[in-house]
Amino acid sequence: MSQATASRGPPGRQRRHRRVRSGSRAGAFTTWRRAAPIPALHGRADRILHRVPAVLPGQPVGAAAVTVYFIGAGPGAADLITVRGQRLLQRCPVCLYAGSIMPEDLLALCPPETRILDTGPMTLDQIIGEIVAADAAGHDVARLHSGDPSLYSALAEQRRRLTAVGVEHQVVPGVPAFAAAAAAMGLELTVPGVAQTVTLTRVATLSTAMPPGEELRALAGRGTLALHLAAAQIEHVVAELSTGGLTPQTPVAVVAYASWPAETVVRGTLDTIADQLRAADITKTAIIFVGEVLAAEGFVESYLYSSGRRRGAQH
Ligand SMILES: C[S@@+](CC[C@H](N)C(=O)[O-])C[C@H]1O[C@@H](n2cnc3c(N)ncnc32)[C@H](O)[C@@H]1O
Repeated sequence: MSQATASRGPPGRQRRHRRVRSGSRAGAFTTWRRAAPIPALHGRADRILHRVPAVLPGQPVGAAAVTVYFIGAGPGAADLITVRGQRLLQRCPVCLYAGSIMPEDLLALCPPETRILDTGPMTLDQIIGEIVAADAAGHDVARLHSGDPSLYSALAEQRRRLTAVGVEHQVVPGVPAFAAAAAAMGLELTVPGVAQTVTLTRVATLSTAMPPGEELRALAGRGTLALHLAAAQIEHVVAELSTGGLTPQTPVAVVAYASWPAETVVRGTLDTIADQLRAADITKTAIIFVGEVLAAEGFVESYLYSSGRRRGAQH
C-alpha cells in the first residue's frame, strides 16, 4: 500500500452489500415531473424538470457499472461542489484527492469508514494501482480534483490508463477556479464590445512546457486572459505580455484563494502588478486576469435585454 495512505479506517463494504440499501425513494424521481406553473409575467416558465441519472437519492453507488467518478471539487468552499459530486462523495467507500488545495470541509463529507488518500505524494502508477484495487474489491471511487477536472488535472492520463485496464469511469464537472475568481470580483469576462473571447492558459513550469504557439506573448491582446499556475512567475508573465504588445496600463487583477476565507483580490496594471503581488505575498493558488474587461465602463448594453429586441426571438 502507498506511503501516502491516510486511511480513516478499514475499506468500505463491498458493492454487493451496499446494493441492499436501495431505498424506496429510488424510483420516485425516475419519471418526468412538471413544476407548478408560475403565473403572470413568467407565463412560459412552467418548465419540465428531470433527474440526472448518475446518482439518485436512495440509489446505492455501484448500481450502475461505473467504478471511478472524477469529481470537480470546485475552487475551495465546500458548498461550491455540485450536488451530484457531494452525493458521490457521501457514498463512495474510497476517496482519492489532489491534496494541495482540497478543503477539509469537503473531505468531512466522506463517511467515517471511507478510505481517504492524498494523491499529492503518489505516482500515477500508485494512483492507478489504488483505483484498480478498489475496483477489484467492488468499491466505487470518488476521485476529487480541484475546480473542474477538464483543466490542469491530469484527467486525460488517468482515463487513458483506466480505459486500458477496463475500469469504468465518469466525469462530474465542478466550478472552475477562474469562474470563482471572476465571481469574487463580480466580473463578467465577456463584456459586449470589449471582449468576447476568454483564453484559459498558464505558464510553463518545470513539469509542463507550453506547446509551440501557446507562449503568453502569442496570446496577448486577444480578449480576456485567465492565467493559472502563474502567480509565482509574475515577472515572467509581465515580460511576456509586454513583448506581446500589451501596454503598461493594461488592466490586470489577481484573485488568490477564491472562495476560501483567505480570498484576496488585487487590482492593478501590467506595470504595477508584480510589485503588488510581492507586497501581498501572493505566489500560488491565484488566477491572473488580464484585459480591458477589468476596466470596462462605457460599454454598450447587450441586445439580449434591449427594449428594441422582439421578445420571443431566439437570438
Ligand atoms: C492544477 S490547477 C487546477 C485548476 C482546476 N482544475 C480548475 O478548474 O480551476 C491549479 C491552479 O488553479 C488555480 N486555482 C485553483 N483553485 C483556486 C482558487 N480557489 N483561487 C484562485 N485560483 C485557484 C491556480 O492558478 C492554481 O495554480
